[in-house]
Amino acid sequence: MCGIVGYIGKQAAASVLLDGLRRLEYRGYDSAGISIRNGEGFQTLKRTGRVQDLYQEAMRAPDAGTIGISHTRWATHGGVTNQNAHPHLSHDGRLSLVHNGVIENYGLIKRELIGKGVEFESETDSETLVNLIALLYAAELQDPVNEGKPREALMKALRAALAQVEGTYGIALLCADMPDLLFGARKGSPLVIGVGNGENFLASDVTAFAGRTQNVVYLDDGQLAVLSQEDFSVTTLDEVAISPVVDTISWDIEDAELGSYTHFMQKEIFEQPMALENAMRGRFSQDGSTAQFGGLNIEPRELRQVDRILFLGCGTAWHACLVAEYLIEKFARIPVEVEYSSEFRYRNAPLEKNTLVFTLSQSGETIDTLEAQREAQRKGYRVLGITNVVGSTIARENDGGIYQHSGPEIGVASTKAFTAQCHIAAMLGLYFGRMRDMSYSDGCTMVSALRKAPGLIAQALSQAEKIEAIAKKYARFEDFLFLGRQLMFPIALEGALKLKEISYIHAEGYPAAEMKHGPIALISPECPTVAIALKGEIYKKSLANIQEIKARRGPVIAITDAGKEFPQDLADEVIHLPETHEVNHAVLVSVPMQLLSYYIAVERACDVDKPRNLAKSVTVE
Ligand code: AGP
Repeated sequence: MCGIVGYIGKQAAASVLLDGLRRLEYRGYDSAGISIRNGEGFQTLKRTGRVQDLYQEAMRAPDAGTIGISHTRWATHGGVTNQNAHPHLSHDGRLSLVHNGVIENYGLIKRELIGKGVEFESETDSETLVNLIALLYAAELQDPVNEGKPREALMKALRAALAQVEGTYGIALLCADMPDLLFGARKGSPLVIGVGNGENFLASDVTAFAGRTQNVVYLDDGQLAVLSQEDFSVTTLDEVAISPVVDTISWDIEDAELGSYTHFMQKEIFEQPMALENAMRGRFSQDGSTAQFGGLNIEPRELRQVDRILFLGCGTAWHACLVAEYLIEKFARIPVEVEYSSEFRYRNAPLEKNTLVFTLSQSGETIDTLEAQREAQRKGYRVLGITNVVGSTIARENDGGIYQHSGPEIGVASTKAFTAQCHIAAMLGLYFGRMRDMSYSDGCTMVSALRKAPGLIAQALSQAEKIEAIAKKYARFEDFLFLGRQLMFPIALEGALKLKEISYIHAEGYPAAEMKHGPIALISPECPTVAIALKGEIYKKSLANIQEIKARRGPVIAITDAGKEFPQDLADEVIHLPETHEVNHAVLVSVPMQLLSYYIAVERACDVDKPRNLAKSVTVE
């Protein structure tokens, strides 16, 4: 939530920052701003609206300054106004700050600052922070020890201020007295350094400087950074110097650009065959009978001792957890529980001794999942993660895990990251299953089935035009139901979430048989149902559930793999999918769901990649 970009180098900072902000806009998009060090102070421009609006305004009279900070906001404290947009200048005009996170005790600090004569322009917690730093800095400058040493004075002030604040922050800070330095700090909100050649970057995530440098340093909580054109240093809040590890980003700029697509969500839906290939690469044993994972940091012997697995995640990742529950219980016969990260964190759930915990998070920065992971670790449980973003906080803090390798997911609505998580869940079912009762030949059958997933998804994608036509027909409805049973229940939940988040249509997911216990009251000609009916044990029951809807004149869009067997007149629309092994059902059926939501949102002229009120990675509670 909220995107930060800072730059120090030889180029005009404004265009570098605005270019970075454009790529970070998925983190928040209610307002944006930029501050460039200029003359004795700053040229600051900030406004509500999109980065594009800011860009147009900034480019009318571009500033030539080569050091600056910028921000794209997702409002927490204070409404969406020009004053509340970042950067925030300190009352004395000496400091300019952008902040991602929440300062929980800002009310108290603000009252104290007002008592000392500080005047505020905004309602934000962030303006309190910059004023607190400024006041402490002014005091440090008075101290003879700091005479002629503004850098030391500011670092002392920064440390003292950060020790006082409660909550979370990722900040970038400019000081009018030091035109050649850029300061940053983090606690709970991500911050990375992009290490360039004669230029350096500070940002919420690496997409901000994609195409400019591949070298990155991931800051940890409680670390401060000072960047100059040629150098950077990292210390802790207690003044311990850190020797930073410079990592290399494995993807390039094209991965973070739209290319020939209209929306990132569309691009990411169509990238799914490749995302699944990447999730599988190098992850099957040579004899083709099981899966293997390099980064679990746990011996197979220990894994065999696991009596229970707990999966934690939020939103779409939570749906992937439910998919994992079904597949691991079915193929490995290990009891699995799933909890919302946010609930687990405060619930103090009793866990069995030999419980293995998995956290699932595309971004690896979701605060609820991060804190749930920390809580499980505090209790002494081993936590493994399934994350997409390499170097993210969850990935760095867990005890081991699996990277999805889905490539950057920019659309706020998760698509390829979800199916990659489901596919990895299926591979885990195989992996744990083969350690227990699954036979060699069943393992081989499963591996060859899993390998077919990218091709199956490509077949589903080839129906995009047909699904677009269905979407146009149904886009006017305001309520939808999504029904699926067993493994298809989480897929129904995910279908409903996709539709809700990008087209603002009310949608609910249910296990089909639950209809009779209440939701059937919603059925009417004005409430279409998307019903999944796959062949297998409960196929006939699923058909009976669809009958019940038709009997109440509810329009039905059916998704089936039954081909000609599917009764012709049962549904108003039928989307046919190829028949496949159950391990591929979750990923395969997700595709028409995603396409349907996408085209409905386009038809309703919604902002698909930046739906209202949402942000891609939720780093506030
Ligand atoms: C997905 O479409 C949503 N925007 C959202 O539910 C998301 O999945 C959730 O916030 C979790 O994000 P994470 O995977 O990055 O932790």
